[in-house]
Amino acid sequence: MKQFLKHPAIYQLYQEVGGFFAARIRAIRDYLEIRPGARIIDIGCGPGHIVRHLPRGIDYIGLDIDRPSIDYASARFGNCGCFQMRFFDAAAVDELGPVDIVMMNGVMHHIGDADLEATLVNAKAALKPHGVLFTLDGCYVAGQSWIDKWLLDNDRSAHVRDEAGYRRLLGRVFGRVDMYIRDDYSRLPYTFAIGVARGDRV
Ligand SMILES: C[S@@+](CC[C@H](N)C(=O)[O-])C[C@H]1O[C@@H](n2cnc3c(N)ncnc32)[C@H](O)[C@@H]1O
Repeated sequence: MKQFLKHPAIYQLYQEVGGFFAARIRAIRDYLEIRPGARIIDIGCGPGHIVRHLPRGIDYIGLDIDRPSIDYASARFGNCGCFQMRFFDAAAVDELGPVDIVMMNGVMHHIGDADLEATLVNAKAALKPHGVLFTLDGCYVAGQSWIDKWLLDNDRSAHVRDEAGYRRLLGRVFGRVDMYIRDDYSRLPYTFAIGVARGDRV
């Protein structure tokens, strides 16, 4: 199963059947304000489908380190945004920033603590003074159903955290971190931690 999910089309099919893709759309609708003309960097954009669900007239840049995902996204959605195969690092910040929004949909749980902190520092550096980092990840919660926990335990990534874990990492870099825990967004039982982070750490 994990091997199959490496294929962008199969990954996207799984996201849609499970309702995990709809969850991304709902979370963005509920917790992220996207103003007309906003500049957005989407770190770990994967197959890029999300760009079709963002407002028209934005300036969207999707980045991923996976060549098949970027080729897939460019072929299908190249008219809605720009897709680049690259690691999100300080050089990317210099070339692509500043932006109003950095998005990391389903990405933090792929990255270990030390690398994630470095990525978050770069995300902060890419933002305009009133910019926002938006994150969405699977999340452990006490008492969640066995299916929910099984899906998290068997994720392709080894870094699924609980709310405190995500909040702690975001809080090392950002001054204000709002987190929302939702278990009503997907078709399959699954708990999401949605992070909205902004401002300097004081
Ligand atoms: C679970 S997928 C999420 C894809 C998409 N954002 C979504 O919502 O379905 C995580 C993606 O993050 C990418 N990724 C992980 N670390 C990255 C980094 N430092 N820079 C760019 N992409 C990264 C992986 O290649 C993978 O495609």
